[in-house]
Amino acid sequence: MRRIIALLCLIALLLTIAGCGGERDEMIGVTVYRSDDSFISEVRKSIAAASEGDVPVEILSADNRQQMQNEQIEDFIERGASAIIVNSVDRTASGVIIEKCRRSSVPLVFFNREPVKDDMAKWDKVYYVGARAEESGRMAGGILADCWYANPGMDRNGDGILQFVIIKGETGHQDTELRTEYFTEALMERGIQLEKLHEDTGLWNRDDGRDVMNEFLSYSGDRIEAVFANNDDMALGAIEALKDAGYFTDGRYMPVVGIDATPAGRRALRDGTLLGTVFNDSGNQGRAAYNIAKELAAGRIPTSESIGYEITDDRYVWIPYTTVLRQDA
Ligand code: BGC
Ligand code: CA
Repeated sequence: MRRIIALLCLIALLLTIAGCGGERDEMIGVTVYRSDDSFISEVRKSIAAASEGDVPVEILSADNRQQMQNEQIEDFIERGASAIIVNSVDRTASGVIIEKCRRSSVPLVFFNREPVKDDMAKWDKVYYVGARAEESGRMAGGILADCWYANPGMDRNGDGILQFVIIKGETGHQDTELRTEYFTEALMERGIQLEKLHEDTGLWNRDDGRDVMNEFLSYSGDRIEAVFANNDDMALGAIEALKDAGYFTDGRYMPVVGIDATPAGRRALRDGTLLGTVFNDSGNQGRAAYNIAKELAAGRIPTSESIGYEITDDRYVWIPYTTVLRQDA
């Protein structure tokens, strides 16, 4: 009897040792700036899909608070994450995050919110996956230029000048500044004279986009001949405001251009409210970020071949944008 008890104790002891001392399960930690951003939700889905049957991911949202995101990253490090994917709340906080990960040798992949070059230079196990903001701005401008030349009636007051408004994304985000700049540049390059009536931030979201558009309408009403929103969510908010003001019924139309081609954006293209958008390829951005993180987690240096995406400037992957019109939606 005593021998049996001794044997059972030994087995229990061995099981405990195996449970505690053994290798921790491999995991890639992911933190995104907030959970209710439509575009980021699509990237999240893509990361989760890429991880199926492979190194698992744990995805957290930072509720738009940088402090909370820093704690999530510390927690991932403590729990032995083998790589971390970050969509930072405030891209100027990237330096602090890189420093934390460098000290613990946990490789990092940023996406969508590009760290400044000085921060990227702090460690070689830091990568960035994104899309060229200027490219999307140009494409959005191109959509509106085509519409202008195809529809003389778009110049509602007949002065030969395009009166337009811009609903911008969050201040300081590379996509906000560059999309806005290259949108107007593309129109000017097509020989269109511009008058910007208003611009304000809609903070990337639909409700703020609607409020900002309501304000623009209260100032300028029918003087507005076109709307450019830095993303689809804000364009959809603007469309709501325009509908309330009587647009999109009885032949009253307003050209509205967005960026992203989210599922909701594509629906608006199909029902003829959104004139056009630019596909911000969430699927490939998510997959590229995951593939890089997986290589780094395995202690390898990612190559274009091993991740399936071209790496430029050593540690950047740029996913191209594409124009999406009604017939493509
Ligand atoms: C997307 C926006 C999104 C933002 C979040 C942009 O690239 O176009 O829809 O809200 O990233 O950082
Ligand atoms: Ca005009």
